[in-house]
Amino acid sequence: MSGRRCHVQDKRHHVSEDITFDLATELRAATRDLHNALNSTIIHRLPLGLPPVATSPQLYGLGISRFARLYNVLESEWAGYITSPQRNTAADTKYRAILDSAFMLEIARSRRLSSDLANLRAVWGEIDSPCNDAALRRAVDHISASIKAKPYVVLAYAWIMYMALFNGGRWIREQLVRAGPGFWFVASTSEKRLSSESVKQSCLSFWYFDGDEDGEDLKNLFKAKLTTASMCLTKKETEDVVVEAQALFQHILNIVLEIDTVAQSRHPQSLAIQRNSLSSFDPFLIMFVLIMGGFFGHYLGLQTSVTKIFNN
Ligand code: HEM
Repeated sequence: MSGRRCHVQDKRHHVSEDITFDLATELRAATRDLHNALNSTIIHRLPLGLPPVATSPQLYGLGISRFARLYNVLESEWAGYITSPQRNTAADTKYRAILDSAFMLEIARSRRLSSDLANLRAVWGEIDSPCNDAALRRAVDHISASIKAKPYVVLAYAWIMYMALFNGGRWIREQLVRAGPGFWFVASTSEKRLSSESVKQSCLSFWYFDGDEDGEDLKNLFKAKLTTASMCLTKKETEDVVVEAQALFQHILNIVLEIDTVAQSRHPQSLAIQRNSLSSFDPFLIMFVLIMGGFFGHYLGLQTSVTKIFNN
């Protein structure tokens, strides 16, 4: 690992030569419990939106439309900051350079999400619901306000939103594609549309990247850019980035649980299955987890996230 050197500007403020520092490692360690909680929450819910439980991609559309709002606010605030008039302060110059150097149009997801959602809506009608979205609005407002106040926290949000695609995202993508073209398009549509390739392009483009390497090259470039940009942060700024990564994971967890409430009213069949699923919210299981979590969590460092999850 290389020494910590800021190539952007204002070297006076960056953390002194800490040769072991790596932002991604810090973020991974600080969000491990929250990630594990989110990971299992999503793994338990994904089958509810896919065959044989679901007969249409509407539930998937509902979920992904809410994630689209997160990508949207992140990418528009990010681009907005870079292109806004310069303020001629040292901090502004530094943050502008950090955000500019980390930005990658090839990895941005907003356009693909809008296109996927437009194609899904064209076949399935309106898929999101403007009600029951308080957690989503809180998250969007939080991201927007935080980037305005501390532009460098973009590094936390970008790390979460893009790196998710290269890990769990690949697994999720596999499940979505496995549902088959007949699931994504109504049976009456033409033969041409009923191919896996066409599904990838029209409904699931969010999960794919241009090029021959399935995004591996973009991932590596993004990670390198993130590392370089993080070298310009002060200790306090780095702490802010870590706090914001934890905050975003918690917001995403809240959003996923909020989608449950929308699904309850719009897709009752999925709720029935969720209720019957021991892996979801069986009261005895919750009690067991809380008691055991409280007892052992202290030693395992799990207590905070376990209680936070069940408080939501
Ligand atoms: C919205 C949901 C999710 C988000 C935001 C998310 C985010 C992340 C992030 C930021 C990383 C760290 C990447 C790195 O530093 O290299 C990661 C790693 C990983 N994620 Fe997720 N993830 C999500 C869901 C999932 C799901 C559902 C699975 C399971 C299939 C999963 C499995 C993994 C794995 C296996 C890793 C690599 C762990 C490691 O290298 O230590 N994630 N995820």
